[in-house]
Amino acid sequence: MARPDPRWWDTAVVYQVYPRSFADSDGDGVGDLAGVTSRLDHLAGLGIDAIWLSPFYPSPLADGGYDIVDHRAVDPRLGTLDDVDDLIAAAHRRGIRLIVDIVPNHTSDQHPWFREALASPAGSSARDRYIFRDGRGEEPPSDWRSHFGGSAWERVGDGQWYCHLFAREQPDLDWSNPEVREHFHGVIRFWADRGVDGFRVDAAHTLAKDLTEPLRSQPRLSRALPLDGTDPLYDRDEVHSIFEGWRAVFDEYDPPRMAVAETWSPRNERSYLYARPTELGQVFDFSLLKARWGLEEFRRVIEDSLSGHRAAGLLPTWVLSNHDVPRHASRLALDPDADPDAWLLSGGTAPRIDPERGARRARAATLLMLALPGSAYLYQGEELGLPKVADLPTAVLQDPVWFRSGGTVKGRDGCRVPLPWTRTGPSLGFGTGGSWLPQPPGFGRLSVAAQEGVSGSSLTLYREALRLRRRFDAADPRIEWHDGEPGMLRLVRADGLCCVVNFASEPRPLPPGELLLASAPVEAGHLPSESAAWLLRQRSTA
Ligand code: NOJ
Repeated sequence: MARPDPRWWDTAVVYQVYPRSFADSDGDGVGDLAGVTSRLDHLAGLGIDAIWLSPFYPSPLADGGYDIVDHRAVDPRLGTLDDVDDLIAAAHRRGIRLIVDIVPNHTSDQHPWFREALASPAGSSARDRYIFRDGRGEEPPSDWRSHFGGSAWERVGDGQWYCHLFAREQPDLDWSNPEVREHFHGVIRFWADRGVDGFRVDAAHTLAKDLTEPLRSQPRLSRALPLDGTDPLYDRDEVHSIFEGWRAVFDEYDPPRMAVAETWSPRNERSYLYARPTELGQVFDFSLLKARWGLEEFRRVIEDSLSGHRAAGLLPTWVLSNHDVPRHASRLALDPDADPDAWLLSGGTAPRIDPERGARRARAATLLMLALPGSAYLYQGEELGLPKVADLPTAVLQDPVWFRSGGTVKGRDGCRVPLPWTRTGPSLGFGTGGSWLPQPPGFGRLSVAAQEGVSGSSLTLYREALRLRRRFDAADPRIEWHDGEPGMLRLVRADGLCCVVNFASEPRPLPPGELLLASAPVEAGHLPSESAAWLLRQRSTA
C-alpha cells in the first residue's frame, strides 16, 4: 500500500498512461486496462508514485477519448469496470496511486444529454445543459474560435448553434446550470468510491464562460496573453466556485481526494488559485515544457515558477511531455530561433531535427526537472527516450487537429504511437496483434527489452534518477544558483543535491562534489555538452 501522506502529490512523480497506446492484452491493436495492469511491474520498477490514466470511458474517439459518452463506464474496447477495480487494487498493492481524467468542459456529441438536446426545441431544459444560441443572421453567435481550428460554433437542424471550444463532436456544457454541477459531483463520487486517489481536470480554465448577451468577442487566443479574470472564455473568476464545490466532494473521503488542473493560460498569480487547498490541490506548470533549450531560458522559467509558487505557498508541478505536445526528445532539438508557439500548437509540422541531439537534450532536461523541488509528471515512453513519430502516413491520422486544419497540421498522433516493449515480434510486444498507429522502423531498438539493465540507456537513467530522488527532499523549495563555468547551469538544493547542465558546445569540468548520476558518460571529470549531472554537494564547497 502507498504510505499515508496527506499531501503526497506535492512531491510525487506521476506517470501518464495513455491507455490506447500503452499495452494491448487482447490483440485487437488497441491498448486496454488489462494491458496496463499486466505492465505494472515496469512502472513499479521505474519507481513512480502514481499513475495518471487518460480517458478510458466510452467514446466515439473524435478526440482520442476526450469526447465522452458515459462518464461512469469503461469503453468496451478497453475493458470493464472490473478491470478498473483490478487495476486500482494491483497498483495500490505496489504502493502506486491512481489518478483518472475528468473531462468537464464538454461531452461527446453522442452523449445521451446531447442527443436529447438535439431532439428538443430551442429554449428547452435539455438544450440548457449545453450552450445553444441563435446566430447573427446566417453568422454564428460570436467570433469564438475552436482550439482545433475554425469557428467554435456548429449549426444544428433548426438553425440554432452550439458552442464547442474543441472539436464539433465535443459540445461544451453550461456550468452555470446546477444540473451539470451535480452530475460531475456524482462522477467524482463514482470513481472515488471505487478507490481512485485523484483526478486530472481537463481544460479546467474553460468551464466558466461569460454568456451574457450580446456575447463578447474573444479576439486574443494567444499563449502570450496575460489573463486577468475578465476574458469571456478563459480563467474566469467564477470557475473557482465550481472547484470549491468539488473540494467539498473530495473532502467527503478519507483520505481526501486531490486533483490537478490542466490550464494552458499563461502562468501568472491567477494560475495558482486552482491549486489552493480549498480547490483542487495542484496545477500543472507547463513553463518548462514550453521553454526552448538554452541556459537563460531554462533558468528564467525555473526561477519564475519557483518564486511564483513560493509566494502562493505551493510547490511546482513540472511537465516536459504529455499526449498533447511533441515529445521532448524531438522538441528540444529544435533550433532555438524556431517559434515555440507554432511548434506546440501545430503538434510538430517539424523543421529538421537531429535525433541524437534531441535524445541528449531530453535526458539532460529530465535530470534537471527531476532535481527540482516539487512534483513531476512523466509521459509514457519518455523513459525510453522515444521521439515524436514525425512521418506517420496521413491515412492513419486520427487527431481532430488534422481534420479541422484541412489536412495542413498533422496534430498529436505522433506522440501517441503504441509503446515498444520488445525488440521484435508483433507490435513490438505492445500486443499480440497490430497497433492502431504504426510503429516506425527502428522502434524496437528503443524498447523496454532493449534498454533493460543496459548501463547508459534512457530507461536505466530514469530508474536511477527516481531511485536517487527519494534520498532527497523535494518538498524543500530552497535552491541556490551557483555561477561557474560558462554555459553551465548549476543549482544546489538545501538538502545538498546539486544539478548541473552543460549548455555549452564543449565538455566542461564538473564542480566539486560526489557524482551521483549523469545523463552522458563523464570523462576525466568533464561533463559532455548538452548533458546533466547530479552531485552531492560537499559541505566545504557549498
Ligand atoms: C486537453 C486534453 O489533454 C486534450 O488531449 C484534449 O484534446 C482537450 N483537452 C479537449 O478535451
